[in-house]
Amino acid sequence: MATILAIETSCDETSVAIVNKCNVLSNFVASQMAEHGQYGGVVPEVASRRHLETVNGAIAAALEAANLSWSEIDAIAATCAPGLVGALLVGITAAKTLALLHDKPFMGVHHLEGHIYASYLTNPDLKPPFLCLLVSGGHTSLIQVHQCGQYTTLGRTRDDAAGEAFDKVARLLGLGYPGGPIIDQLAQTGNPQAFSLPEGRISLPKGGYHPYDCSFSGLKTAVMRLVNQLKATDPDLPIADLAASFQETVAKALTKRAIRAALDHNLSTIAIGGGVAANRGLRQHLKAAGEKHNLEVLFPPMKYCTDNAAMIACAASAHFNQGDRSSLTLGVQSRMDL
Ligand code: KG4
Ligand code: ZN
Repeated sequence: MATILAIETSCDETSVAIVNKCNVLSNFVASQMAEHGQYGGVVPEVASRRHLETVNGAIAAALEAANLSWSEIDAIAATCAPGLVGALLVGITAAKTLALLHDKPFMGVHHLEGHIYASYLTNPDLKPPFLCLLVSGGHTSLIQVHQCGQYTTLGRTRDDAAGEAFDKVARLLGLGYPGGPIIDQLAQTGNPQAFSLPEGRISLPKGGYHPYDCSFSGLKTAVMRLVNQLKATDPDLPIADLAASFQETVAKALTKRAIRAALDHNLSTIAIGGGVAANRGLRQHLKAAGEKHNLEVLFPPMKYCTDNAAMIACAASAHFNQGDRSSLTLGVQSRMDL
């Protein structure tokens, strides 16, 4: 079985991992979250600079933790798309240089394919077809996994990603960054039924609504209007109730679409990925709905839901085994469909 070293630098985590099939030998992650937090969001130029400073040490740390030398590595992979171009370039350039230097194959990996493969790290017996609900700060998609390299995006957000919606609502409530964990915490003591908020459905030209696509920008605007209305009578906002009501709306919207997509496509397993997988409201709703409809719902451990190179190495490993390799001329792209 191939041993893959992978580098992930698509956003604000510099991560290097070594994986043998689904077995994680090391997974080094350096997060820049605290630094970007000062600006209320990821600053691309800052991200690229930090990746550049961190990546060499991260590679050395991953090799040392796995107790391996270069001769024991079969291929070198890096995330090539989608993501911040400057950030992606750091990882892919490091990977290509190492591939040339050590005479190893190079493999470019789609970031979302990495998120799909995160589920294999703790469920190596997982067999396609299954549904992946990917909910992060940059992406919100429902992906049908047919086999390695073959995916159908059944649904996606038409505007903000779920995590982005959490971050924007947190900002307008005057909370910190990233907003997801703060809203999740506040929601624990709030009433999810306190305020009724719109779900954000996508109308179809011939009538009715798209069954799997979602939208969060209207919800964010609705929270903003509600906040302004409440502030007009009492400057002391019911923050916990607002957080709980917003979270409930997002969790229900995502659960409804994921369950419907799984049932419509005869998929008995839903694997979750992305940072929003940590959300307690979403977990509760998905777990309950999964039980009701006899569907298996997989929540990988959080260290594999948020951005990490182990998931990229795992995806690369599956491609390596079917003979796929990338050219050293492969570039990076800010956007790319699966
Ligand atoms: O996957 P991730 O680490 O980074 C990418 O976006 O690729 O996801 C980060 C996102 C942020 O928007 C953050 O607010 C959200 O995940 N998040 C959460 C929770 N923990 C992190 N959202 C809701 N509830 C949480 N507990
Ligand atoms: Zn991600």
